[in-house]
Amino acid sequence: MAERTEAPSQVESGAGIANPEIWPAYEYPVPNQPEDEAHIARLLSSMTLPEKIGQLIQADLCCVSPEDVREFNLGSILVGGNSGPYGDDFAPAPAWLSAADDFYHASVDTSDGGAGVPIIWGTDAVHGHSNIIGATIFPHNIGLGAMRDPELIERIGAATAAEIRVTGQEWTFAPTVAVPQDFRWGRSYEGYSSDPELVASYVGAMVRGLQGPADGDNLLAGPYVLASTKHFLADGGTDNGVDQGDSSISEEELRDIHGLPYRPAIAEGVSTVMVSFSGWQGRKMTGNQSLITGVLKERMDFGGFVVSDWNAHGQVAGCTNESCPQALMAGIDMYMAPDTWRDVYADLLARAETGEIPMSRIDDAVARILRVKMRLGLFEAGAPSTRPLSGQYDLLGSAEHREIAREAVRSSLVLLKNQDILPLASGSRVLVAGEGTDDIARQSGGWTITWQGTGLENSQFPGATSIWDGISSAVEAGGGSAQLSPDGSFTARPDVAVVVFGEEPYAEFQGDRETLALDNALTGPYATMQRLREQGIPVVALMITGRPLYVNPALNLADAFVVAWLPGSEGGGIADVLVGDSSGAARHDFTGTLPTAWPLTPDMDDGALYDFGFGLNYGSTANAWADLPEIEVESAGDTRVWFANGTVPSSWSLLVNGTGDEAQTRITGVPAQALSGRVRVTAENFVVQEGARRFAVAEGTSSIHLRNFNPLNLDRETNADIMLLTTLRVFDAPDSAMLGSAGDTSSGMINFPMPQTNGFVRYGIPLKCLRTRGADMTQVNLPFVLTTEGETDFAIGEVRLGMDAEVILACE
Ligand code: BGC
Ligand code: BGC
Repeated sequence: MAERTEAPSQVESGAGIANPEIWPAYEYPVPNQPEDEAHIARLLSSMTLPEKIGQLIQADLCCVSPEDVREFNLGSILVGGNSGPYGDDFAPAPAWLSAADDFYHASVDTSDGGAGVPIIWGTDAVHGHSNIIGATIFPHNIGLGAMRDPELIERIGAATAAEIRVTGQEWTFAPTVAVPQDFRWGRSYEGYSSDPELVASYVGAMVRGLQGPADGDNLLAGPYVLASTKHFLADGGTDNGVDQGDSSISEEELRDIHGLPYRPAIAEGVSTVMVSFSGWQGRKMTGNQSLITGVLKERMDFGGFVVSDWNAHGQVAGCTNESCPQALMAGIDMYMAPDTWRDVYADLLARAETGEIPMSRIDDAVARILRVKMRLGLFEAGAPSTRPLSGQYDLLGSAEHREIAREAVRSSLVLLKNQDILPLASGSRVLVAGEGTDDIARQSGGWTITWQGTGLENSQFPGATSIWDGISSAVEAGGGSAQLSPDGSFTARPDVAVVVFGEEPYAEFQGDRETLALDNALTGPYATMQRLREQGIPVVALMITGRPLYVNPALNLADAFVVAWLPGSEGGGIADVLVGDSSGAARHDFTGTLPTAWPLTPDMDDGALYDFGFGLNYGSTANAWADLPEIEVESAGDTRVWFANGTVPSSWSLLVNGTGDEAQTRITGVPAQALSGRVRVTAENFVVQEGARRFAVAEGTSSIHLRNFNPLNLDRETNADIMLLTTLRVFDAPDSAMLGSAGDTSSGMINFPMPQTNGFVRYGIPLKCLRTRGADMTQVNLPFVLTTEGETDFAIGEVRLGMDAEVILACE
């Protein structure tokens, strides 16, 4: 399998220039209303240059106040996966609506002059209004791809739009119309299918569900929001599935595979398009004029506006996060500049004042944004709380919406094996075992309440049902019984066991993997399946996953195997299909089929075990099962874990360093001594027996290092607010300590209080902070450095990248 490179490519190869004339010509259907055009012309002639520049900017809620919106006439705000109103990612729905009003009132306030153009608020409602506690969470797109049901897609879009309108937002960054070609990509589950025709068959329906008909009627008068097809173009076509990477495919493949879903998007009048972080033939999309202007706006006649992705402009050759006129010139109309908006604004303004950026481009961008705002009816709509559906909180997670989601769950399940075990008779005694059985966050995946979908409890999903809830209520209703037992042990012998396993939530590049193997750390339930089988108990394997993976051991061990994808809040839809009636007859049959091929080995180049479109149902005849080949999976896992279970990954070392000419010691086994006996290293239990390393330092300066053979490029992670997470137990506090990362020529270290602790504590430092402290995050030789002064005794349990810190350290 080809090598993967981590760094987003910045190379300008001279290639990557499209020929618009070989692309299909479309016609944008949304009529330009004469009165709107006159209004736009009036605004363009009355707005000052700073007011116009303000319209081109979108800031994240993390970093913008209503006061800023008033002062800078910002065109838009967004709520990123980890932001929320009033600084609270978990804010209740009424707080969202009231924040929407605050920003709206600021935007239309003309008391100090100002154009008073109302603001729009964008959110990643990518599987339902998924940032909001209590909203209906629909299956992620890959599961919807298994259903082959555009009509249901439209109903999902409409329900999502209605829920968004309850909390006052006008714009969702959906649907993702990626056509993933390599499922090692961490965003594969955001795409419906690897098949362009299947993706295209959904896009129009989803856009229609969200925006309503493309007849020029005001969206806000109806139950609608703006949609955004993303990420233009070939986000799912990067070489080796590297997120934000580069795609070296031909222009014909670019057009025929990744361009195809834009046909229905344009036909339905999608109002915004988000440009991809990724590149084509060495050129970043965000700077690609031939594609954004030449193909999308001119050839495809796209009449809405184009928004860039989260600081993606900073990756264009010659640009930084703070300055990138190239993006505007390429055809970006609105900059998503979450935390960098002040700089981007000032930079664009200065360049417009000197004439370096022509007024014609600025006016065109502003006009496009105003046109979309007028299509919304934004100028007449009044404050968000006064619009139709606003504040109707009972629509969030309403029974009607949940029923749509539950139908989608049923239709998305794919049956890969069934040796006459399913459906389960409702009177059975069912053991529910494995991981994620009663965990709604896990069954929902990334982009759920938090960006990564991690750090959540079932209590944050009021009204939702877990897989366990669904199975237990179905069998109890039929006179059977259910036992919940993650490790598969039981008191009363069951008739059958359902063993849940699969992936944990992730989003974006955090989900990139080297191979198509399920992480070794997630294969624990195989042993449970094995044990149950030895006890003569039939096993149904139920896989939660964002993508097809090599899981042959589970396919061999289980008597039936069901792929549930990432079903979301309505776990009950699974039992609807798995549990039949009291006579054992099905209540609902399987209708889902694979939206992409399923791999035979961790390397897709070895071919498919099941082809695109495969899926059994209750009418299929069970053939004798011929065991599938099983392969030793070496280091399948998360490359963001640098120290865990007492060990480092291959190519990494754990080192103890002193001062001056003291020799560095590489720690392999324990017990060990370092720095001429000044440091003693032993094992401590954490998660597993001897899962931590304990360092007893007698005196002086000592540094614990984790070194990777090749310097790491952590630029992407730094842009995305990822943290360096260190899980420590301190038995005896040092006099002082510093924690951070270092390169050969730079370092970023912060003062770390390091108090004595009772148990293990997971500390987090935002990588952004290490950059502020001086580290070159593109060249990190020592991603982890902990330096202590004086006598101390502490144990390190885990070091990794992630979001879920228990204590976030101050950046000082
Ligand atoms: C993602 C987009 C998303 C945006 C806003 C980016 O990192 O690539 O898909 O819409 O953030 O959260
Ligand atoms: C955003 C993502 C983004 C990341 C950056 C999230 O809040 O939604 O789109 O890449 O954070 O921190």
